[in-house]
Amino acid sequence: MRILLIGDIVGKPGERIVTRALPGLRQRERLDFIIANAENAADGSGLAPSIYRKLMTAGVDCVTLGDHIYRRNEIRSVLESADNILKPANFPPSAPGRTWCVLPAADGTQVAVLSLLGRVFMRPVDCPWHAADRVLAEIPSDVKVRIVDFHAEATSDKQLMGRYLDGRVTAVLGTHTHVATADEQIFRGGTAFQCDVGMTGPHDSILGRRIDRVMETTITFQPTQFEVAEDDVKLCGTIVEADPATGKAISIRRLVLTVDEADKLATQAKPAIPVL
Ligand SMILES: [Fe+2]
Ligand SMILES: [Fe+2]
Repeated sequence: MRILLIGDIVGKPGERIVTRALPGLRQRERLDFIIANAENAADGSGLAPSIYRKLMTAGVDCVTLGDHIYRRNEIRSVLESADNILKPANFPPSAPGRTWCVLPAADGTQVAVLSLLGRVFMRPVDCPWHAADRVLAEIPSDVKVRIVDFHAEATSDKQLMGRYLDGRVTAVLGTHTHVATADEQIFRGGTAFQCDVGMTGPHDSILGRRIDRVMETTITFQPTQFEVAEDDVKLCGTIVEADPATGKAISIRRLVLTVDEADKLATQAKPAIPVL
């Protein structure tokens, strides 16, 4: 079975390329399950319920977030009611949202998803390693395919999490830095790993924001709005092929899709044929 994790969706450009590409991409790549990190989908920061619904309609199965999770208060009701959107599992129990979910993939396999926040160069949170242990013990043992979105800044932190969970989960895939890393690999225990799957949004930017605005504020300290950029929009993510019986990863591959490719997919996508 094949699982796609879409990297941090930034603003309207990110949302647009995902909703346009996804139905066709699902067919082309024979995807059974799609996870999207949407922490920057609402104008660059947080997620709005309307965008969550659009992602669902486009075919996203599960939404993960990160340090920007609560930027939009409106998302709270979705976090508290929907069964396919997660908070980082090492947030305190009082924080709105669930820490893991198990959902059916298109091929019938049950897929567990959890997300964790790193602690290096980030806001202080509970220990991600202990949280991972706790959540993995809670997930039913017959759910073999388990995907971890490790939302963290430091590559060392991410490698450590990958090695810590090797053999216990199908994949540890990084988000948050908005820069894809060329280190995709499968560890000895059968866990697929990549430090960061990259950003889905405008790449002619500073991590998705307008270059001029970020530069001005950083260099002159003049306050400006870090508006979402517009150009060179790409969908970045990673596809993991897994054995549903064992939960071990078979392959891992980076995916980069341009707007032109997404448009082509949108025009080629066949409508799903209903099973009679
Ligand atoms: Fe992000
Ligand atoms: Fe983040």
